[in-house]
Amino acid sequence: MMEKNNLSPESTARRNFLKTTTGLAAAGITASLIPSQVMASSRGYSHHSSDKKLWKNVQKEFVLDKKTTYMNIGTTGSMPKSVLETYQANNLSVAQNPWDMQGKFGSWPYVSEMTNSIAAGFGAEPHEIILSRNTTDGMCSILNGLHFEEGDVILTTHHEHVAAHSPLYVVTERYGVEVIYLEIPVDTGDNSITEQQFVDLFAQAVEEYSGRVRLITFSHITYKTGTKLPAKRICQEVAIPNQIPTLIDGAHSIGMLNLDFHDIGCDFYAGAGHKWQCGPGATGILFVLDSANRLDQYWADRVNPLWFINSSLGHASYLGTQLQLQYIGNDNYPAKQALTDSCNMWDEIGRDVIETRVLSLSKRCKQKLKAAFPDAHLFSPDIDELASAITSFNPFSDINDAATLTEFRDRLREETGYIIRTTDFKIQKDDSQDAHALRISTHLFHDEKDVDGLVESMLDIFNSMA
Ligand SMILES: Cc1ncc(COP(=O)(O)O)c(C=O)c1O
Repeated sequence: MMEKNNLSPESTARRNFLKTTTGLAAAGITASLIPSQVMASSRGYSHHSSDKKLWKNVQKEFVLDKKTTYMNIGTTGSMPKSVLETYQANNLSVAQNPWDMQGKFGSWPYVSEMTNSIAAGFGAEPHEIILSRNTTDGMCSILNGLHFEEGDVILTTHHEHVAAHSPLYVVTERYGVEVIYLEIPVDTGDNSITEQQFVDLFAQAVEEYSGRVRLITFSHITYKTGTKLPAKRICQEVAIPNQIPTLIDGAHSIGMLNLDFHDIGCDFYAGAGHKWQCGPGATGILFVLDSANRLDQYWADRVNPLWFINSSLGHASYLGTQLQLQYIGNDNYPAKQALTDSCNMWDEIGRDVIETRVLSLSKRCKQKLKAAFPDAHLFSPDIDELASAITSFNPFSDINDAATLTEFRDRLREETGYIIRTTDFKIQKDDSQDAHALRISTHLFHDEKDVDGLVESMLDIFNSMA
């Protein structure tokens, strides 16, 4: 079995290549759009993440409606111009030559060059990356594919998305699996929650359900409060020592954070291509560690631990895990190529540089909100270890009042052009009512002015509603 961080020489070379060259053609970006700072940043000068010229040029790559400021990447992102152009051209090629697609995507299964070019950017081997349809597809493929039995326990949290809830419901009803929704700590503005609390929560539950826990699944970043869970620590300190496989919902981390799946140590990681990674709709990335060999080892008492439930090749084990999971019949190859192109662009800029930039914009957002609304409820921790580029907050005193918040969100959009969304959640699992929050996503096509303008506009609307 492959050890964590033990990338093959080819993958390491590729990762180094990405850090030291531009390879702009791969992303379809003309050199004139990308200043020398990008090359510098790709060489590891992370201070360039604050370079105005770099981010101005990146902003020019996006076709977002200038009359609005789109801050709901958590729902879906927006394709960069160059990616969109190649996507449109590839769609035309497929329409003109449906049979061989003018050889644009290589030979069957048409995605090999794509996975080869993006895997290292995620700290993975090419054969560990499946180009899926979205997060939901990845989560369902694994959860519905695992060979559970009655009495098995799955640990998860009380802040998961329906992409997890729905297949968890199916396995509960189908096999009699017991799903334990652990109550994770929710920050209410005092930054008092800690990484250790999350680790302890999972560790205690593993102890409590001793020998029965067959899977740990959780969101790397929750969509409700934008809290980033200590994924690496949960995997390495709790799951691995207890030989429990992990499935991480990475809907919000792919394209936002500089991820290294081997370093995290998870078995499965399901994420979106269309959100923070800014690929087209219905694209996603599914990581399966080392052809799921570790799962076979952890679940050695079960015959065939993982079934390929939505594959055309479920019967053809000689083809290997990646191909079996990848091949679901005819596919949307232009979309997968566009996701690849977007990943290549992120790799060129530097995923570390992007992470630093979007987290710093988000920190600014949190701090400006705190200053402008001293009595507001900020549900997103402003602590580096637990913070993401999502900010979730409620400026009103009654956090259970959904109608006022909806009116606020809609007025913000109609009167100022800022597009954000609302979320709801239970702070404590047994709360009788939901808390409601506004959710802001800050990304690489935003700048400080966007953040400051948002906070000012929010204050205006708030004052007019008071
Ligand atoms: C945490 C989380 N998981 C899964 C999903 C579903 O994502 P997708 O549309 O990529 O299936 C979302 C969507 O917002 C999400 O927030």
